[in-house]
Amino acid sequence: MSDDQEVKIRGPLVPVKGIPLSEHIANHYSNVLAFCPDPSDLLIATYPKAGTTWVQETVDLLLHNGNIEICKRASTPIRMPFLENSKRPGIPSGIDLLKTMDPPRVIKTHLPFQLIPKGFWENKCKVIYVARNAKDNLVSYFHFDQMNVTHPDPGPWEHYVQKFMRGQVAWGSWYDHVKSYWEEREKRNILYLFYEDMKENPQREVERIMRYLDLSLPDDVISRIVELTSFENMKENPMANYSFMPRCIFDQSLCTFMRKGQVGDWMNHFTPEQSAEFDEDYQKKMKHVYIPFRSHF
Ligand code: A3P
Repeated sequence: MSDDQEVKIRGPLVPVKGIPLSEHIANHYSNVLAFCPDPSDLLIATYPKAGTTWVQETVDLLLHNGNIEICKRASTPIRMPFLENSKRPGIPSGIDLLKTMDPPRVIKTHLPFQLIPKGFWENKCKVIYVARNAKDNLVSYFHFDQMNVTHPDPGPWEHYVQKFMRGQVAWGSWYDHVKSYWEEREKRNILYLFYEDMKENPQREVERIMRYLDLSLPDDVISRIVELTSFENMKENPMANYSFMPRCIFDQSLCTFMRKGQVGDWMNHFTPEQSAEFDEDYQKKMKHVYIPFRSHF
């Protein structure tokens, strides 16, 4: 069977410990759970569409002194394996890829806290979590689910808003996800970042990541990293813009992976009524924890 035939177009979501995951990920989860990282490995954890790729590129540049040529050595998922992903056309599974790499490795995941293999916590690995305000995250996911033709069809916008609010999308509830890492951040030394902070002051956030990684780089290197990780530059970077993904997974004729990269795009999508309903539901779901999200500047 060719790689292309292995991909199931618009496959269903299958629950793993109550979290809906793409079938190919759910079927492969026992391999993921058995993975034991090295204490030097770094985990970048996010809810999908929160700015994962942006932080991955930033981290790779920080680890390579801002050298873009080194950071163009391979595409994002080859440089920084996607922990739970099974084998996809042209990309080995995250676990198989990790077996070929010596630590320290940078590993990406969208798993909520409770599905992360215990070894990350036992080995006290560093973890960077990136969160994005719910409405922009939803908008980005809506467009992504159109172009990621392995995910369930997002359907019309008004239905998708309801599905998102109920957590009936891949990797489950946004609300539970952002809360799960927030509640553990101090105990586990998780660096909890916000997409909006990165947009507002990328230099400050790059320096924050640098310190967390125990690095010290001169100002000119930081400025170069800020420039290289701008939305415009990453959109043109073939090793970071997912143009390498085959069309049977990401059909970028429907929507580009690097779509808008803005804060507040939700205002172009939500009607006032939808926004009010969403906010009311948000208050209920987030009432026991205050996480300082900003949905506009
Ligand atoms: P939009 O769909 O709102 O444009 P992820 O990497 O977690 O899948 O997140 C993808 C989202 O982050 C997309 O959001 C994408 O455009 C945005 N993004 C990627 N790189 C970015 C950058 N350098 N600056 C700002 N946003 C970026």
